[in-house]
This record gives sequence, structure tokens and C-alpha cells, in this order.
Amino acid sequence: MNLLVVGGGGREHTIIKKLKENPAVEKIYALPGNGGIAQDAECVNIKATDLEGIVNFTRGTKIDYAVVAPDDPLVLGCVDLLEAEGIPCFGPRKNAAIIEGSKVFSKDLMKKYGIPTAAYEVFTDPADALTYLETAPIPTVVKADGLALGKGVTVAMTREEACGAVREIMEDRKFGKSGDRIVIEEYLEGPEVSVLSFTDGTTVKPMVSSMDHKRAGDGDTGPNTGGMGTVAPNPYYTKEVADACMETIFLPTIRAMKAEGREFRGCLYFGLMITKDGPKVIEYNCRFGDPETQVVLPLLESDLLTVMRAVTDGKLAECEVKFRDAHACCVVLASEGYPLSYEKGYEITIPEAVSEHVFVAGAALKDGRLVTSGGRVLGVTAVAGTLPEAVKEAYEMAETVTFGNRYMRKDIGARALAAL
Ligand code: AMP
Ligand code: GLY
Repeated sequence: MNLLVVGGGGREHTIIKKLKENPAVEKIYALPGNGGIAQDAECVNIKATDLEGIVNFTRGTKIDYAVVAPDDPLVLGCVDLLEAEGIPCFGPRKNAAIIEGSKVFSKDLMKKYGIPTAAYEVFTDPADALTYLETAPIPTVVKADGLALGKGVTVAMTREEACGAVREIMEDRKFGKSGDRIVIEEYLEGPEVSVLSFTDGTTVKPMVSSMDHKRAGDGDTGPNTGGMGTVAPNPYYTKEVADACMETIFLPTIRAMKAEGREFRGCLYFGLMITKDGPKVIEYNCRFGDPETQVVLPLLESDLLTVMRAVTDGKLAECEVKFRDAHACCVVLASEGYPLSYEKGYEITIPEAVSEHVFVAGAALKDGRLVTSGGRVLGVTAVAGTLPEAVKEAYEMAETVTFGNRYMRKDIGARALAAL
């Protein structure tokens, strides 16, 4: 079988390594992939958002199955286009990817179907939003409606900060059209849990839970990033919480999407907060999380391609999705200065003994050498019987991977360890 994977980050590298475990896989094309993915797939320099380029590529190449991993191509309708070419895909169609593509859509969906989430108001006019903020409860949270490279959310601890976020999004148009509308919502408190799930639109099978570390600095300080490390499972996601989530969030969401004529097939990511009133949805993503995938998929015991095809075929109920009874920790190695400004182009050295545990995100090949080309450069994942062992081993391996301006958080897993 020939596979196509759209995307080029650590998430895609993890997916590709896992897909390769299936002996039926002959060839994987990654569009665009990256310098590290080139070890495991044939990278073709077509951007994940260049839908026309992707379709043209498939017309000249035999592709039996495609996985569309990032949010932008999914929201733009990449799956619809590939299906029209006769290629079965893993990933939601455009009308279902809107669950991530529009926060107004997802909030209205949750309200209509009684799915627990933060209370909210929607604004299309900045003046109305600013008037509302004069008396709104503080802290509050301001969110751009559309995709904003993960930077569209401001948790405002003061009224001024909230007003500043409204002006940036709606007046300065910091995220372009994504800021035509905004959501201002209730500030929730409690531990956060990420749950990725496989769903074919009817059946939902949650994967092992995980915990992201979004801030750049130790002790959860500094600016928000795409994620500096993850652990799985998340100790706050107890059996009780999991049961409540299935009953009040996961199944109701799948049914709601189906009832709206927007059947969701693919990976639906639930960003949850475990509040004192029970679990609530902070966000939905229409795809695998990054770097959540780097701890979740290494724990998947079932064959990934088999599960993905069951999702596509609407046969997930009959497909076993099994996870190992173990713990995983991923430490992200970034370029110093990320997510603001950073230098790149430094040579990366990965010892042979750890390369199996490395998922490459921001690296390119230059004269045959792997060099840094992004903020998050790679992730190093360890799997072990206990969380303390997984954290220790991930850091031991991370220390052996070297490049100029290397930066990592030193406390990935600390919060989870304290919760145990
Ligand atoms: P997002 O970009 O949607 O992942 O949001 C970024 C982060 O903002 C989340 O991981 C939460 O930590 C925080 N956040 C989002 N919504 C809320 C909320 N209603 N209350 C408190 N924190 C929130
Ligand atoms: N790590 C968060 C995300 O993938 O959205």
C-alpha cells in the first residue's frame, strides 16, 4: 500500500513511524514532511495548505490511503477534495472540521446540545465587546473565532488585558478574518486534560489521556507555545472522570455532529478542564494534538493503520483499540527564544541509540546534514512502567541529542508526579 500523510511536524513524524509498523505499507509520501521525516518517508515539497498542489500530486502518483493531520488543510476541505479523487482518507470533511475552525460554531453546538462548557457571549462589533467588558466578571477569556496558529486565546486577568485582546483581534486584525467574530467566555479553573479519540461518526473510542505543558518556561511561566512536552496518561483523568466525560461530553458531541448533518470521522480532540462542577470542554480540535500524539501513539498497542481504516469505513465498533498499561513522557527540544524570535540552521546530532525515540518537528536537511529550522525542533519520548521512570528516561535521552541554541523545559511531568 502507498500512503500519503499531509503535514510536516512532530505529530506527523509520530504518525508515520506508527503507520510503518504495518507490513502492508510499502511507501509513505509526506507533504511536505521535514528533514527528520525524510528518514521514514519520501518528502515532497508541497505545503499542507496547497490543496491544489496536493490533489495534483495524487493524480500522478498511486495513493491507496491518505491521512490529513493538520488543522488548516482539514478546515479548508482537503479530505473532501481527496475523496473526490477516489482516495479514502483519515480526517473529517470540511463540514465537520468546523468544530475546530469556528469557536462560535463549537460554542453554539455545545449550548444547543447541553454539553458542559464555559458560559459565553459572541460579538461581531468591537464596540459591543468593549461595552460588555466594562461589567463582565474578571478574569475572563477572549477567543478569536477562527484558526489563529494556536495564538487566538487570551486568558485576561484584568479588564485592560481583555480590552487589549479585543482591539488586537477585531481592530488591528491580528489574525485577519479569523477575528471577524469573537467569543468572550467564563474563566474556568481546574486541571486540564487532553483526550484524543477515534470516531467514525457513531462510535467513539477515547485514546489514553494526556497532559500538555503549554508555557515556554519552567513552573508554567512565560509565553504560550504549541506545547513544550507531554505525559500520558494524565493522573487527573480518573475512571470516574472518564465515565462522566463519555456520558456528558464524548457521546453527546458525536451525536450532535451527526444530528447536524456533520458526521465527524477522524481524530476528535477534547481539551477538557476538570472543574469542581465536573469536566467541561475548553476546546475541540479536529485532529491529533501536537505534542500529545508523541506520547499517545507510542502507547497504542493496536495497529494504527487498521484503526484508521475502521474509522474511515464506519466500522470502529468492531475494531479493537488497545493501549499499553504503561506511561510515556515527551520532552520537546526547542530553539532558545521560541516562541518569540530564535536563530536556526544549527546542526543536530542524534545518537543512533535514541533515534527511534525522536520525533522531528522543525529540522531541514542541508548538504545531507540535519539542521534546526523551527522553534520546536524535536521531541524525545520514553515509555516505561511508571511515570517517574518515563520522565527520567526521557530527560536522559534528551540530554544526548545536541544542537546549537538548544532549549528545553526541565519540569515536564512535575505537575503529574505531584498529583500522583
Ligand atoms: P486554546 O488555544 O483553545 O488551546 O486555549 C489555550 C489555553 O487557554 C488553554 O489550554 C487553557 O489553558 C486556556 N483557556 C482556554 N479557555 C479557558 C477558559 N474558559 N478558562 C480558563 N482557561 C482557559
Ligand atoms: N498541543 C495542543 C494542540 O495540539 O492543539
